[in-house]
Amino acid sequence: MGILFYVRDQKASQTAQYMAFFRALETQRRSASRLFNDPYAFPLLSGRLRAVARLAQLPGLGSLVRGFLDLGWPYTRSSGVVRTRAIDDLVRDAIRGGARQFVVLGAGFDSRALRLEEAGRIAVFEVDHPATQELKKGRLSAFLGRAPANIRYLAVDFERDPLEPKLIDSGFEPTAPAVVVWEGVVSYLTEPAVQGTLAALARLLAPSSSLIFTYMHGGALDGSATFPGARRWRSWVSFSGEPFIFGFRPETLAATLEIFGFMLQKDESTHDESMRYCPPIGRSERGSEAYRVASAVRMEA
Ligand SMILES: C[S@@+](CC[C@H](N)C(=O)[O-])C[C@H]1O[C@@H](n2cnc3c(N)ncnc32)[C@H](O)[C@@H]1O
Repeated sequence: MGILFYVRDQKASQTAQYMAFFRALETQRRSASRLFNDPYAFPLLSGRLRAVARLAQLPGLGSLVRGFLDLGWPYTRSSGVVRTRAIDDLVRDAIRGGARQFVVLGAGFDSRALRLEEAGRIAVFEVDHPATQELKKGRLSAFLGRAPANIRYLAVDFERDPLEPKLIDSGFEPTAPAVVVWEGVVSYLTEPAVQGTLAALARLLAPSSSLIFTYMHGGALDGSATFPGARRWRSWVSFSGEPFIFGFRPETLAATLEIFGFMLQKDESTHDESMRYCPPIGRSERGSEAYRVASAVRMEA
């Protein structure tokens, strides 16, 4: 585990780059058939993935690249773009419902702070591992010609650094309702880091604040449950140097969250979300049954 963390310290997250790649490919689709528009995804890409995304803009090549990805790593791309859309909707709802602060944990190359109109009106705190965050800040400044004014960046390693003092020192208001997104992160953390982060959020968040997160079904990680494509997905992230190590169990998630003062409101597989989002735009692809999006609300203490 020590070697793994050392490698992460030095390198920007590859899986975060892949998520931006999937969002760049999604953005290239015709507006009537795409799940969202992320104009920052392509500028945030580096190296090989940037080159492939550029190629995919050529007529006919986009569907070829998506088909190749879906064949090699079934459900990975489709789950990624469906979860992005589902979380966009949850964040918009939370801000319209009164959230006055937006915290993005393990932000990677997420651009919601810039692309969601609602997020532009409130304080945004992006928390990430320093190596990934530095690359993102550099790429965004180059693209925008300035540093984004509405975002505060906090370099935090969830395995080592306490979250609370960093957020408070950056101006986070514990008494104001917030929405927190923890997308595509818990799978890469140890159980103590996941629990430590939940405990910190319980202390930091005002009642009625929302916590939105994604996770891999724990049974897909310990082999006690099987899901189409899950094994290939696991080997792909391991190959990227960021293996899945933690998963929640849907059947005990509500009770786990309750211990930390959160009430589960929604917990849905990306397969079920794809059934809701894709047919209305003429698409038949499906997300993974193993990968889930959940949202919870901070209860009164
Ligand atoms: C798969 S990416 C997801 C990025 C983004 N949330 C998204 O969905 O596009 C995983 C993210 O978790 C972050 N991460 C993983 N382990 C971390 C740790 N120990 N401390 C802080 N961030 C971590 C990585 O830096 C990366 O940004």
